[in-house]
Amino acid sequence: MSSSGKRILVTGGAGFLGSHLCERLLADGNDVLCADNYFTGRKDNIAHLLTNTHFEALRHDVCFPLYVEVDEIYNLACPASPIHYQHDPVQTTKTSVTGAINMLGLAKRLRAKIFQSSTSEVYGDPSVHPQREEYRGNVNPIGPRACYDEGKRCAETLFFDYHRQHKLRIRVARIFNTYGPRMHPNDGRVVSNFIVQALKGEPITVYGDGRQTRAFCYVDDLIEGFVRLMAAPDEITGPINLGNPVETTVGELATRIIELIGSRSTIVYRPLPVDDPVQRCPDIARAREVLGWEPRFPLETGLKNTIAYFDRLLTERGEKPGASPRQVA
Ligand SMILES: NC(=O)c1ccc[n+]([C@@H]2O[C@H](COP(=O)([O-])OP(=O)(O)OC[C@H]3O[C@@H](n4cnc5c(N)ncnc54)[C@H](O)[C@@H]3O)[C@@H](O)[C@H]2O)c1
Repeated sequence: MSSSGKRILVTGGAGFLGSHLCERLLADGNDVLCADNYFTGRKDNIAHLLTNTHFEALRHDVCFPLYVEVDEIYNLACPASPIHYQHDPVQTTKTSVTGAINMLGLAKRLRAKIFQSSTSEVYGDPSVHPQREEYRGNVNPIGPRACYDEGKRCAETLFFDYHRQHKLRIRVARIFNTYGPRMHPNDGRVVSNFIVQALKGEPITVYGDGRQTRAFCYVDDLIEGFVRLMAAPDEITGPINLGNPVETTVGELATRIIELIGSRSTIVYRPLPVDDPVQRCPDIARAREVLGWEPRFPLETGLKNTIAYFDRLLTERGEKPGASPRQVA
């Protein structure tokens, strides 16, 4: 690998966020090594990057050590949606914890800067609103979401211990709900679920009464936050909230998606899953202050881009009413 930029490892680089991050880092003139075991990531997400000589894809599970030479590491490897992380909960905790240990070990050996994609789930079902970074959370350690929430909390602990003990340069971002092109079509996340159901003309499933709020950040805004945090002075370790503080109720989201698509879908209500937080919204004062960052994409623009992506995907797969499957040579 050689270019004027840095050599950067992105674990989970074939996933939704990872593939956008790889694109951005390449556009900024860096060499990018993507390491992914393709559990939830897809080769299609990075297929367009494979012809770039500054990009390399490696099949690798972060639960095993990795020996490569890089200047920076973004650790994104971990299934992120409840359907996926609850599929094999023990493996989820291992990916978060053992994965963090392996990547921190690599960073320590190389004296590389390392970024952790943590999550708003470390706040659990919050009793304060909106959540500031000082809030210590309300996580059920034995519930079905704990494999993810506690795995991510332990990874944060490891990052800060490597920082204190080994003087490692760390960056920890707590990511709130993010959406955009290349989300998984069937991962049960609210934006992708609603868009796919509306495009297919199927009923839109709202869990609970639809009054629970979510704050949705568009992927390009989030990636800008990642890059700024990585480039910030070393004393800015985080944790730092990255997300969009504009709240929307889940019911409103369903209605907007139906309108934007012009869909004939109706809305059906189902019981809330166990431990589903009623309200979650980032306080991004710290990101504004130290990174000069805030989201720029309005929900409508982000939704239109995401709808266009799923429309193409479902048409290619022949899953849209009236569409025939793409001919494969
Ligand atoms: N998208 C969000 O709204 C959101 C919110 C909070 C935190 N995050 C965090 O951001 C990161 C990326 O999330 P995403 O939304 O892109 O999800 P994703 O599932 O699309 O991406 C995760 C990637 O990690 C890979 N992976 C999983 N286990 C692995 C392992 N053991 N070894 C190597 N690769 C492995 C998957 O194959 C996938 O490509 C995750 O760490 C997630 O916890 C995402």
